[in-house]
Amino acid sequence: MEDLRPLVQQALENAGDFGDGCPQRLGDAMRYALLAPGKRLRPALVLMACEACGGKLEDALPAAVAVEMIHAYSLVHDDLPAMDDDDLRRGRPTVHIQFDEATAILVGDALQAEAFRHLSEGIDDPSRAIEAIRVLASAAGASHLVGGQSDDLSAERDQTESKQRNSDSINLATPDISSLRTVEHLESIHRRKTGALFSASLAMGAILAGADQKSRAALSDYANDLGLAFQVVDDLLDYTADEKELGKRTGKDVDRGKLTYPGLLGIEAAREKAEQLVKSARSHALYFGPAGWRLTNLADFVLERTL
Ligand code: IPE
Ligand code: IPE
Ligand code: MG
Ligand code: MG
Ligand code: MG
Repeated sequence: MEDLRPLVQQALENAGDFGDGCPQRLGDAMRYALLAPGKRLRPALVLMACEACGGKLEDALPAAVAVEMIHAYSLVHDDLPAMDDDDLRRGRPTVHIQFDEATAILVGDALQAEAFRHLSEGIDDPSRAIEAIRVLASAAGASHLVGGQSDDLSAERDQTESKQRNSDSINLATPDISSLRTVEHLESIHRRKTGALFSASLAMGAILAGADQKSRAALSDYANDLGLAFQVVDDLLDYTADEKELGKRTGKDVDRGKLTYPGLLGIEAAREKAEQLVKSARSHALYFGPAGWRLTNLADFVLERTL
């Protein structure tokens, strides 16, 4: 990822001019969110997919920027008091702390729209542009990212209420008949709130490289595994990581009663789940032969990361 990051960073900085009508404070807050030191994993995935399919990196840059804009917006809203209520992100105060809550809401609104403006203006081939826009819109929409976030919050409320019921009740041994359904539901949340944007990143890279169906299918399989693995590891890091290194608060998921893999299965089993998924992701990257080397290394990074 290291050699792709400067390319992505430059493209993000170039995209940080939101026009004359954008108020100074809103623009500052948008740049604060977008240019903060994130890992730039999703833009890297766009470029890696494009490269693996034989495309030119520059052709994929508009999609790399667009997906990071959607991601940055989702983080700003995820941190709001009405959602996860966090005060630290990417090692800095969250947008609603550094600026104010209304500004943070508007930053998200604007970044989401700017993502599609950037994508639509940056791609010359109209049919590729439409396909990429459709893919990103679907991933960011109600049945993927936003739906997953909505169910994440509902599950948090359900967990909290059922804990309350259990502590009120004398019969603490009530068997959790729905635990299987709960794992399935958790997987569905993670695939939507996080996995969908990973899938969209790889799919857009393939679209902009003009990839064939087989390459697209291999990338889709890779993304399905990697996206879920990424969120399982994110859940694990909330238990195990160093707050300073991670750049965000730890222990928050337990505090808030979030439905998570380690919370449901335990740390060991969650770790095993992530390992299985990453192994499977690596096997799908093999389709690309030597051209898939970055995808293989990135899968390893997702498992081993500490930030
Ligand atoms: C954090 O994503 C939000 C999740 C989906 C877990 P990242 O860990 O990729 O965040 P940045 O972009 O590096 O800050
Ligand atoms: C966030 O999941 C997923 C998003 C769509 C932003 P989390 O709530 O676990 O992400 P962090 O831990 O705050 O980064
Ligand atoms: Mg959240
Ligand atoms: Mg959060
Ligand atoms: Mg998390």
